[in-house]
Amino acid sequence: YRFLILNGPNLGALGKRQPEIYGTDGMEILPVLLDKVMGHRTADVELEYYQSNSEGALIDRLEQAREQGMHGVVFNAGAYTHTSLALADCLAWIQVPCVEVHLSNVLARPEPLRQKSFIGRHVIGVVAGFGMLSYALAVQALVQHHEKE
Ligand code: DQA
Repeated sequence: YRFLILNGPNLGALGKRQPEIYGTDGMEILPVLLDKVMGHRTADVELEYYQSNSEGALIDRLEQAREQGMHGVVFNAGAYTHTSLALADCLAWIQVPCVEVHLSNVLARPEPLRQKSFIGRHVIGVVAGFGMLSYALAVQALVQHHEKE
């Protein structure tokens, strides 16, 4: 399987950004963690990584994932989760299975706005609150999704 690990705004600053909420690890450890969690399955799963702070670039990358015939997307849209009808519209048509992920448990955060997800309607499921492990759980969920087909 080929999956895209897609990160939205401010996620490039992970490790420096509000470590009390998002932890002290930077995004560079994500490939190491995912390889470790995938264990013997690493051979069946090829991961591509992309991060952008801009909404349009994220949409372009999602359209590209469709053209490439990617088997899934693990998507942390950051704050665009709660604001972007444009990203929701994109996920609604590209027909690439997507798992929404968040490092923090967005439902437990104090700002009520974070409890709303525009993209939630167009994803197969959501993993939130487990830090970097959220991404690993999402990759496993995508593998399961394909294996039960
Ligand atoms: C986030 C949660 C969002 O509310 C926030 O805007 C982010 C990160 C998370 O991973 O916990 O940028 O998606």
